[in-house]
Amino acid sequence: MNSSLASDQRYNAVLRTLHWLVLLAVVLAVLTIQLQDIYAKGTPGRLFLRASHYAAGFSVLVLMTLRLLTRALSHAPAPVPGARWMQTSARLTHLALYGLMIAMPILGIASVLLAGKPVDLYGFVLVPPFGADAVLSRSLKNIHETGATFVYILVGLHAAAALWHQFVLKDNIFRRVL
Ligand code: HEM
Ligand code: HEM
Repeated sequence: MNSSLASDQRYNAVLRTLHWLVLLAVVLAVLTIQLQDIYAKGTPGRLFLRASHYAAGFSVLVLMTLRLLTRALSHAPAPVPGARWMQTSARLTHLALYGLMIAMPILGIASVLLAGKPVDLYGFVLVPPFGADAVLSRSLKNIHETGATFVYILVGLHAAAALWHQFVLKDNIFRRVL
């Protein structure tokens, strides 16, 4: 099929860059928290990984906000041609990814603040603006951890669909974001 899509079939350079920076920040957020168990509680290594999780997770929020603003203020390419069910499922997956990537950092930050602990974000320390509430903090942490499972499922489905388009349908879909 067409190997050189016209520029109006690609996201603009800012959106393309932000797409991959979000992926990088998500991978770092997941790796840092999953690796923390190699260190015992309270050790510098574990605290470093925890702080890195907060920083990477907060970067997702910053990048997604920039991405939503750029997306709203600029022209996006028309959807990839295809069956209606494919277009609808792609649209729903993209919407869910936007929602999840905004909600996850907010839930994470809120759960730490509600535990009565400060959150250090790139050296800028957020102190709890409200009193501690251990029960609410625990619930938000649980939702955050369940949300992580949805991150794996949605990013997996999204990447698998992109690979299917690229290598089976051969419609050069990667060109839209590369
Ligand atoms: C290995 C990982 C990934 C691959 C291979 C991939 C690939 C792609 C491709 C090929 C497109 C263009 C599809 C189209 O325009 O219909 C796209 C769009 C998109 N990707 Fe990814 N992506 C990955 C990770 C992510 C992650 C982590 C997010 C999280 C936010 C994400 C969110 C999106 C969204 C929301 C769109 C639609 C853009 C828009 O309409 O604003 N992707 N991706
Ligand atoms: C999109 C951004 C984020 C992603 C993808 C993410 C992902 C994860 C994952 C995979 C876990 C481990 C879940 C489990 O073990 O079942 C986790 C735990 C956690 N996250 Fe996040 N997170 C993000 C942002 C944040 C932010 C910004 C904060 C706070 C500043 C935060 C605070 C926490 C806390 C406190 C835990 C529990 C750690 C523990 O008790 O072991 N997260 N997160």
